[in-house]
Amino acid sequence: MIKKSKIIVTGGLGFIGSHTVAELHAQGFEVIIVDDLSNSSINVLNGLEKITKTKLIFEKMDLKNKSLVKKLFIKYHDISGVIHFAASKAVGESVIDPLKYYENNLITLINLLKEINSLKTKISFIFSSSCTVYGQAKKLPIKEDEKIKQAESPYGNTKQICEEIIQDTCKTSKNLKAISLRYFNPIGAHPSNEIGELPIGKPQNLVPFITQTAIGKHKELTVFGNDYPTIDGTCVRDYIHVVDLAKAHIQSIKRLIENKTVSNYDFFNVGTGKGSSVLEVITSFEKVSNIKLNYKIGPRRNGDVNEAYADTQKANNVLDWKSELSLDQAILSAWNWERKIQNI
Ligand code: WQD
Repeated sequence: MIKKSKIIVTGGLGFIGSHTVAELHAQGFEVIIVDDLSNSSINVLNGLEKITKTKLIFEKMDLKNKSLVKKLFIKYHDISGVIHFAASKAVGESVIDPLKYYENNLITLINLLKEINSLKTKISFIFSSSCTVYGQAKKLPIKEDEKIKQAESPYGNTKQICEEIIQDTCKTSKNLKAISLRYFNPIGAHPSNEIGELPIGKPQNLVPFITQTAIGKHKELTVFGNDYPTIDGTCVRDYIHVVDLAKAHIQSIKRLIENKTVSNYDFFNVGTGKGSSVLEVITSFEKVSNIKLNYKIGPRRNGDVNEAYADTQKANNVLDWKSELSLDQAILSAWNWERKIQNI
């Protein structure tokens, strides 16, 4: 029974977490938002309460603290599921400070799973994973049976290890069923323009750097290399609107709560199935914004793969989910959001 099923969303004030909270509410779920605000802002809660026109339940806490996690599950012992976003996610930072990533991304997951195992009720668990686990795939588009590569960063390694921890726990747990969603490149913002991406400091990712350059926060964008073996020499990625990505979580949690799965663990690639180069993203931005973007071609960035885009057949068929929004729509929503947060 979906109506009023209670779901804990860890990292629920983050970029993908907040958009998933909005979609869960729209689908009649009761949401408990858990966030330590280390990489998000309390303003996101205000934005979500404007979207949902509801006072939402928010628990500010550090999931690395075992006793706080125990108290959380005692307080919300009647939950049906957990969607786990809370993690450190900057590839570059993980190379500089690997222990922060292994501690934060693994300890939080283990604390959650141990408390879930102590509950008597069935719990559906959705894990926020990443296409990073594939590295440079041999075959494109990337299917879920693509060989998992040696991670290119501690961040990517934590995603691989977390997937294995969840899979192994599901094998023996009496009450846990889980799905890992391997995201490609989430971009864009909610149509209400009340929530969107809020990078802290200089953005690592392409789209927020483009919108910040266009708004005047940076002199120009540097395109990291144009000598790749791709359509125009720049890297190709699968840019998916964050609202489409959020909806994949709804389909996943519904599938588990409604007990439609045979196995206790499964995983899905979540993308549009279409690759776009860096230059194609720039062209899309210039088209939807009517602004000429200032950019130059620079050297390649370490760790970048040439191409990564999803084969989405498994998610389409099994989750009954398909991305619906185009690259232009995603880029325009990102641009509208940038102008909103810069009060322009
Ligand atoms: C995209 C393309 C860059 C910035 C990362 C994580 C992945 C996921 C999404 C969490 C690349 C190029 C970028 C710039 C550029 N995060 N670029 N100039 O690296 O594909 O994926 O974010 O789950 O796990 O690895 O995304 O947006 O950083 O880069 O040319 O200023 O844009 O070289 O080709 P990436 P990105």
